[in-house]
Amino acid sequence: MEERGYQVFAPEEDEPDKQSDVFFNDHMIENRDISEAAFKVASNIIQSDEIHTCDALSASGIRGFRFNEFSDHLVLNDVNPNAVESIEKGLEANGIEAEVTNKDANIILTENRNRFHLIDVDPFGPFTTFLDSTARAANHDSFVGLTATDNAVPAGSYKKTCMRRYGSTPLKESFMHETALRIYIHEAFRNFARFDKCFEPKLAFQHRHYCRVIGRVTESKKRTNQQLENTGFLSFCPDCRWRVLEKEKRDECELCGHGVANAGPLWIGKFSDRRFTEKVLEEMPAEWEDGREIVERVDSEAEIITPFYDLHELCSNMGVSSPKRDPVIEKIHEKGYPISRTHFSPTGFRTDAPLDDIKEAITEVRKERAG
Ligand SMILES: C[S@@+](CC[C@H](N)C(=O)[O-])C[C@H]1O[C@@H](n2cnc3c(N)ncnc32)[C@H](O)[C@@H]1O
Repeated sequence: MEERGYQVFAPEEDEPDKQSDVFFNDHMIENRDISEAAFKVASNIIQSDEIHTCDALSASGIRGFRFNEFSDHLVLNDVNPNAVESIEKGLEANGIEAEVTNKDANIILTENRNRFHLIDVDPFGPFTTFLDSTARAANHDSFVGLTATDNAVPAGSYKKTCMRRYGSTPLKESFMHETALRIYIHEAFRNFARFDKCFEPKLAFQHRHYCRVIGRVTESKKRTNQQLENTGFLSFCPDCRWRVLEKEKRDECELCGHGVANAGPLWIGKFSDRRFTEKVLEEMPAEWEDGREIVERVDSEAEIITPFYDLHELCSNMGVSSPKRDPVIEKIHEKGYPISRTHFSPTGFRTDAPLDDIKEAITEVRKERAG
């Protein structure tokens, strides 16, 4: 098999899973496309003469092969001996040199304290059990990419598991995938902070069954203290659908006085950095369509903080049928508010406009369409 010109040695399966001899999921190509472009950009930001890269849960090795171009030392690791065989075949076929190890990811990362400038952690399920060792292995100036596939947990389907695994309360509402992404970022930040390392998200997104968080790591107590300001809670009014991300929990809705539901602790700052996502897009060829579409969307919404609104949710709350999304976006824009679509949902939009003005815009668009 091939991906983006690299040969891959893994069984062809419709639905690869944990039981596969060697795991290779060709549907995750957009994750690897985005990760390659993001790490390439990162390699130019990092202040180091040499870039040491670790693909800690490498499976067939495809992800690591794609990091070769901008890495001076590449470590590809997997606990599965069959995977290691595939990695070695792939390295030879693709003419790539790397150190290959067959260890638990926590061991290889812990053995390489402060060494790596680029670390990829792409496990089955949550990344939580690899965070401590990743924080140890991360250089004082580095980037880390984390994938999590247990999205149902921080998205609110398993509240107790979420509290146990992330120490956080989820909220199963229309923006639950954003809540999940913010819980993941908070978890990464907290774990790095314990090592006086600051993890700041540079490009994070949710897609299909997974979330991906790529962040910059700097060793700085001062910076970590400053970024603590980006940890807090999401308050949401189930009555009028008002929402806010703030340092402290609210009791009452600012608009209607109804009691609110809270999620968190979670990340309340930007989940992506536009200066970074723009550079990532420059590294993504036009034919990497799916990945580009995700990054373009994330790029357009990166500066707006309020959790996204779902148009159908708001219309059902107002007791009216839903007009088309784009005229509503245009109307809110005409009112002078920044607004964008969101990568989280085709019927969603992101704006810091007050909820009353958003509802007014929906009413105006409906009237114009009717008249
Ligand atoms: C989702 S796959 C990785 C896919 C790969 N990154 C890609 O993009 O194709 C997860 C891999 O982690 C490996 N793995 C699971 N637990 C591990 C551990 N504790 N240490 C190292 N590897 C582990 C599995 O053998 C499997 O190959």
